Amino acid sequence: MISGFSTIATTVVILLCITVAQGTDCSALASAGNCSFYDCLSAKFSCGQRGYPLFRGRRYCCRFMNQSESFTTAGQAWITNVHKCLMQSIVNSALYNDANTHCSEFGNLEFENRPKCYIDNGFCTNIFLSDQCQNFNQIE
Ligand SMILES: *[C@@H]1O[C@H](CO)[C@@H](O)[C@H](O)[C@H]1NC(C)=O
Ligand SMILES: *[C@@H]1O[C@H](CO)[C@@H](O)[C@H](O)[C@H]1NC(C)=O
Repeated sequence: MISGFSTIATTVVILLCITVAQGTDCSALASAGNCSFYDCLSAKFSCGQRGYPLFRGRRYCCRFMNQSESFTTAGQAWITNVHKCLMQSIVNSALYNDANTHCSEFGNLEFENRPKCYIDNGFCTNIFLSDQCQNFNQIE
């Protein structure tokens, strides 16, 4: 009886946790271009340590943020804006509102959006044409 009850209780707790995670709203982090967005996304879709958000998304994001000071001021703004753009492309996609989305699909989406996010935020002027290619060399 007791074990039956605790099984039900455990199930309820697990279901609640899944519901809470599904309802997680990562959009504020996306608007800020904060790399913690990927932690939020990973939790929301239970992607795990080797899923796209933590294994690649957050890793690349942190790498850029960590190197930010080596970029010019315009380059730093570009980094922030590109990350906002990539994160918001996820939040605004149908994938984000579909509980059945596979975590790797977020990677494909970012890959597709990357060129547009780079160019729209001035890759050609702020990065490619920076003094002595300072920014371009950093990205390399
Ligand atoms: C990003 O978000 C996390 C979690 O909310 C917060 O602790 C951190 O200070 C934020 N980072 C920046 C750079 O704003
Ligand atoms: C940031 O970069 C420095 C120097 O390249 C490195 O020592 C440090 O481990 C990096 N930190 C993170 C969080 O990647």
